Amino acid sequence: MCGIIGYIGSRQATPIILEGLKNLEYRGYDSAGLAVISNGGVELRRSVGKLSNLDELVRQKPVPGTCAVGHNRWATHGAPSQENAHPHTDCTRKLVVVHNGIIENYLTLKDGLSAAGHVFQSETDSEVVAHLIEEKLKKLRAARGSVARDLLEPLFFDAVRQAVQELHGAYALGILWADCPKMLLGVRSQCPLVVGLGQTEMFLASDVPAFLSYTRKAVFMEDGEIAVLNQGECRFFKLDGQKTDKVPLQIQWDRTMAEKAGFKHFMLKEIYEQPRAIEDTLRGRLFPLKDGALSRECGLSSAALKDISRIHLVACGTAYHAGLIGKYLLEHFAKVPCEVDIASEYRYRDISVDQNTLVVAISQSGETADTLAAVREARTRGAKALAICNSVGSSLTRESDFTLYTHCGPEIGVASTKAFVGQLLALYLLTLHSSLARDVFSETEGRKFVEDILRLPGLIRTVLKLDSSILEIAGKFYEKEHFLFLGRHINYPVALEGALKLKEISYIHAEGYAAGEMKHGPIALIDPKLPVVAIMTQSSVFEKTLSNLEEAKARGALLIALVTQGDRHVRGKADMVLELPQVPEFFSPMINVVPLQLLAYHIAHLRGCDVDQPRNLAKSVTVE
Ligand code: AGP
Repeated sequence: MCGIIGYIGSRQATPIILEGLKNLEYRGYDSAGLAVISNGGVELRRSVGKLSNLDELVRQKPVPGTCAVGHNRWATHGAPSQENAHPHTDCTRKLVVVHNGIIENYLTLKDGLSAAGHVFQSETDSEVVAHLIEEKLKKLRAARGSVARDLLEPLFFDAVRQAVQELHGAYALGILWADCPKMLLGVRSQCPLVVGLGQTEMFLASDVPAFLSYTRKAVFMEDGEIAVLNQGECRFFKLDGQKTDKVPLQIQWDRTMAEKAGFKHFMLKEIYEQPRAIEDTLRGRLFPLKDGALSRECGLSSAALKDISRIHLVACGTAYHAGLIGKYLLEHFAKVPCEVDIASEYRYRDISVDQNTLVVAISQSGETADTLAAVREARTRGAKALAICNSVGSSLTRESDFTLYTHCGPEIGVASTKAFVGQLLALYLLTLHSSLARDVFSETEGRKFVEDILRLPGLIRTVLKLDSSILEIAGKFYEKEHFLFLGRHINYPVALEGALKLKEISYIHAEGYAAGEMKHGPIALIDPKLPVVAIMTQSSVFEKTLSNLEEAKARGALLIALVTQGDRHVRGKADMVLELPQVPEFFSPMINVVPLQLLAYHIAHLRGCDVDQPRNLAKSVTVE
């Protein structure tokens, strides 16, 4: 996620902005920049890579001024570059914007603004906001005639109010205009924005760590609010111009806690961010239902989807488990034959591909060596490659024919959680658009599929309320040395993922198995000391899985079962039951994985393990 910091006061702004950006580094970024109101104009400094590059740029070319905005960019639209780095300006170079979020209708707005003569410098969605405000200023000036100097602030305020009401999507904005040097505006819609209240200075930021060393008095903005920051005061308004009173809070967190938003670990924070990861990955991609949304987004047109004769899903680790689930989705709904391979195996087997084979490479980092090698091998043999990736501009996206980005924000914890859910969401989108393109889905079936997707964030929020019950279960089992996870059909990969989560952060030996495989060997492991986690939510294979459960119970297994709310069959047979909300079978992995993530997290924490940085593991395996 991007990081915003703004300052207006009596001190030199640049050092405060640079320090604020450093305190927002944890949010992840690939470029940074700042803009200062100086000598009647705006001075921009922007650089790619680490903040030290921006530091050096500012050291070489200092900028005096007491009103400024800064930004750490986590790329979503347009690769990391100086042109794409924020702040962005309008055509006059006197109005600047920093943005966190996704403007869903930016292409439409950009088309209209270009037609009106605006010239764009970047590939970003964010730059559109600067030009839109400029356009509103022009129209308001024309309507109000020449504006006296003391009326420029209301003019600026109204132009911003009007502009943001044309934006669709999620945004937190910091906005400056050189003609109003004593005013800093902030606007919030679905992306966090907080105001730090000093005595004679004001701060605007994405998160409190940015200004905690200057003030602990803060106001967390709500959606649809505009903050007007002047040197000695801050006022808040609704988008209709009505003033609104806000009660400041006294921040008790220290900086480390603030970076994790009060969570003990990044992994737990990221588990709780999953509903948001889904919502952000969905933005602008569902409608119009036809492939227009997806093809504009990843370039994989309806015609290309129609011509695909088979799909190879390749990935590593958690991403591989997402690929296994993708197979069930694509074969069931889109009727496309699929193979799924661990990338390190795929790259060395004698793969059979042709120009109608689509290789779908799934990777959070986009830098996993085995996945990159697998894609290179497949493309050499004539296949087309689609990357499902969370990192804009990464190697995998540059070496694939098409890219479908997940918008989960940076995943700091080594154990992948929200990125996994984002990958699944991307596979649901691919399934939807493939099914429509291949005329397998009617419009009605497509709309039903979309409705099921749209319910997922709320369902995950419901499952997260089980956290304390899951902590209780973890308290009973955290000293165990072995675990078995069982699942069938589309939840077999979820069992694999639950086992991987547990083993990689708690160092407990854990195996995921297809429930139907029990009698082919693993049942020999069953004894009263071995906890068995069984995914028993409602499905077309529920009865079959229930009998597997009974086989294990008959041999004394310690059973922890995930069931669908209202289940009456499993309760009497399992030692512990977690009730999950009803969800259509093919959407259940998105729900069922969450308790398994939380179980692994709590067990690892109770064992005193380093949850965010487990031993021997790297966040991105860039070597074979
Ligand atoms: C998952 O929790 C692990 N951190 C690991 O298996 C990871 O999923 C795998 O290394 C693939 O990484 P990628 O998604 O960045 O390609």
